[in-house]
Amino acid sequence: MCDFGLKPRLAGDSVMIRRAFNGWLGARHYNMSGTRNRHPYWLLHEICECDVFADSGVSANSAIWHRYGSDKAGSMASNEEVLEELQPSKKKGKRNREGKKVRERGAHLFDPITLRGLTIRNRIWLPPMDMYSVYERDGKPTPFHYQHYVSRGLGGFGLIMVEATAVSPEGRISPCDVGLWNDDQVEAWRWIVEGVRQTGASIGVQLGHAGRKGSTGCFSIGHIAQSVPLEEGGWQTVGATDVPYGRYAAPRALTTEEVRGIVSQFRDAAMRAVSAGFQAIELHGAHGYLLSQFMDPLINTREDEYGGSFDNRMRFPLEVIDAVREAISDTMPLMIRISATDWAAGGWDLDQSIDAAKLFKEHGVDLVDVSTGGIVSGVTVPVQPNYQVPFSAQIRQKAEVPVTAVGFITRPKQAQKITRNRQADAVQIGRAALRDPYWPLRAAHKLGIPVEKAPYADQYVRGAY
Ligand SMILES: Cc1cc2nc3c(=O)[nH]c(=O)nc-3n(C[C@H](O)[C@H](O)[C@H](O)COP(=O)(O)O)c2cc1C
Repeated sequence: MCDFGLKPRLAGDSVMIRRAFNGWLGARHYNMSGTRNRHPYWLLHEICECDVFADSGVSANSAIWHRYGSDKAGSMASNEEVLEELQPSKKKGKRNREGKKVRERGAHLFDPITLRGLTIRNRIWLPPMDMYSVYERDGKPTPFHYQHYVSRGLGGFGLIMVEATAVSPEGRISPCDVGLWNDDQVEAWRWIVEGVRQTGASIGVQLGHAGRKGSTGCFSIGHIAQSVPLEEGGWQTVGATDVPYGRYAAPRALTTEEVRGIVSQFRDAAMRAVSAGFQAIELHGAHGYLLSQFMDPLINTREDEYGGSFDNRMRFPLEVIDAVREAISDTMPLMIRISATDWAAGGWDLDQSIDAAKLFKEHGVDLVDVSTGGIVSGVTVPVQPNYQVPFSAQIRQKAEVPVTAVGFITRPKQAQKITRNRQADAVQIGRAALRDPYWPLRAAHKLGIPVEKAPYADQYVRGAY
């Protein structure tokens, strides 16, 4: 069943996928049940994040193709080479006067980290993951969200970053997304925020606008990887231009005035986040959602002040950053998630990401959360454990800004190596945390952290490893 080697477009070879697959099979808490077990493409679904996934009628490779897909895609081999070039040379490293290698140690996973006025208890963070679970479609989080986030707080995560939270109804990825566009939503978030904070974890929220990737289906309403029809609660999406993403419905190009209006929506949502008690804000500038649609040279062909040159393409995200920074206190950390490359020839790449990170920092961003892909359709992504870490490391080093690493980080020692090697200041554990909310407690045990120093809730100490 698990033949991933069909005319491989991914990473030039199926070996990598097989390796990843074996890793997944070996994962201690993996639940081999239900449709995934029967579905030959479930792994690709997992790899490609769940917010969009091609239907089961496509081949394994075209599933990847479809997820990130584009007509302007760079070749697969070249993307693999990009990754290869970014790997740190084994020969490098600091040496003492006698020429012997000096062990340079970055932070331990369980060291706290301070960003502005917020000290986060460790460097294992929950990344934003859309749960598509607002069945009332009113943008208000539910008891499910309480359980989901508070249990990860009890599980020992340092920072819980709440899923993509829309700044307007049209900014949702799906009709079942959460939001912060009205005050009822503030009230609904408050008890969740309070619940997480009581566990000793910190909690931030990812504010986003889906742009042309909005109004898509999800597990509860269907239309997976497609637009939800208007008569079923979908909406006319908006974008940097009127060109659609993949098979989605065409967006309407935003007017210059409307772009400014969305800047204000981000500011207002940030103020609501503060009022709900969130301790950090992350802007969703990755995966082809609105901010990244404006940043990407392949997508943003606008002719007004928000399109064209790098400076013009950066105008919208920087205005959003300025507006949000102004709305929140000086002690509150502001982060931004970016896709460090769109994996497409002539598109957004690492160099632009480094330049952007420098600008973000100047404008008051405290940490860049480094992901990749999802911006243009038709590309191939060389997915493997740590595949995005080299991008974090480069941005950290060249833009001199704190970063997180994310993507296929599943094992405690693997995670610990990333912070120890100064490739990132914190790591994010996504899908592995969906199957194991107590991942950090298990990691503490594996890394030999004494129980009294591990992030156990008092009530749970008697059950410690
Ligand atoms: C169910 C699911 C929902 C996701 N939703 C979001 C999201 O709301 N915002 C975001 O920036 N990334 C989202 N992602 C991407 C994750 O934050 C993370 O970058 C990705 O899963 C890779 O990390 P992992 O290999 O540890 O899972 C989502 C991923 C999953 C699996």
